[in-house]
Amino acid sequence: MTTAHIQRIAVIGAGTMGNGIAQVSATSGFQTILIDISAEALARAKETIRQSVEKLHSKGKLDDAARANALTQMISGTDMALAADADLIIEAATENKPLKLKLFADLDALAKPSAILASNTSSISITSLAAATKRPSHVIGFHFMNPVPLMPLVEMIRGYDTSEATVTAALAVCRALGKTPLEANDSPGFIANRILMPMINEAIFCLMEGVGTAEAIDGVMKLGMNHPMGPLTLADFVGLDVCLAILEVLHSELGDDKYRPCPLLRKMVAAGHYGRKTGRGFYSYTS
Ligand code: 3HC
Repeated sequence: MTTAHIQRIAVIGAGTMGNGIAQVSATSGFQTILIDISAEALARAKETIRQSVEKLHSKGKLDDAARANALTQMISGTDMALAADADLIIEAATENKPLKLKLFADLDALAKPSAILASNTSSISITSLAAATKRPSHVIGFHFMNPVPLMPLVEMIRGYDTSEATVTAALAVCRALGKTPLEANDSPGFIANRILMPMINEAIFCLMEGVGTAEAIDGVMKLGMNHPMGPLTLADFVGLDVCLAILEVLHSELGDDKYRPCPLLRKMVAAGHYGRKTGRGFYSYTS
């Protein structure tokens, strides 16, 4: 199922979130264009998507048509101009504000006037990204959760000037992607990370202060609160660099020391231990 006005979706960035968004877009029947400056990243993304689609298909969670769509409905490339015909462009680049501001200005210049520009940012102001364009009414936040093919939520964030028509179209696309949109206002970390990151940060303080081992901290939250993953496992899964970047935004923009990133988190990021993606975080992933 697609929506009347939006047939073609471009996704900028082929990392974990970008490839997940492109996968869901293609399997849902949208013409999908996955764009990244790195050809290697695109090759990795295509393999990740292939494996994920096969797994979901083998479990009966994707039908034959959706599986076929993953191949027939998706193209990829390194040229940003491939997004020129898209009705919706979802930016899923690295969580870096100057980079995203430049991307939004560039996308605004090449996208067709009616196109909606969305960001998968986890904490950067949608209003400020919209202000980098000449179409702030057409800019909105689309915050997917990792792993995108499995998680039902998309946080939808209105910027200061986002129009009702843009919100209505975005809500329809989310539902056509099989997701449940929930609206949040444009405030640092929105809802998801405003709540999740302080919990993860507190778990890291508990570890640093010797309140418990990593296994005990995660076990308490899994067995005691029914969380599917403990907070330290989840931090490794999200990426410690990403957690630190979000906490920095919460701390600097809300100005409250309760968001101060734990020194152990800073140290681990400085050491290059980002979690699963580097093979080492609170746990080891090398074997
Ligand atoms: N595609 C297809 N299948 C996938 C997949 C993917 N992308 N990722 C995992 N799976 C499969 C696994 O391979 C596994 O298959 P199997 O049963 O055949 O072995 C199955 O899903 C279940 O996975 P696991 O057995 O490893 O573990 P779980 O049952 O715990 O489920 C999970 C995995 C859905 C990730 C669950 O642990 C979970 O919900 N964890 C919490 C995730 C979460 O909180 N996400 C939000 C992060 S915050 C965020 O994204 C915001 C950002 O801004 C920071």
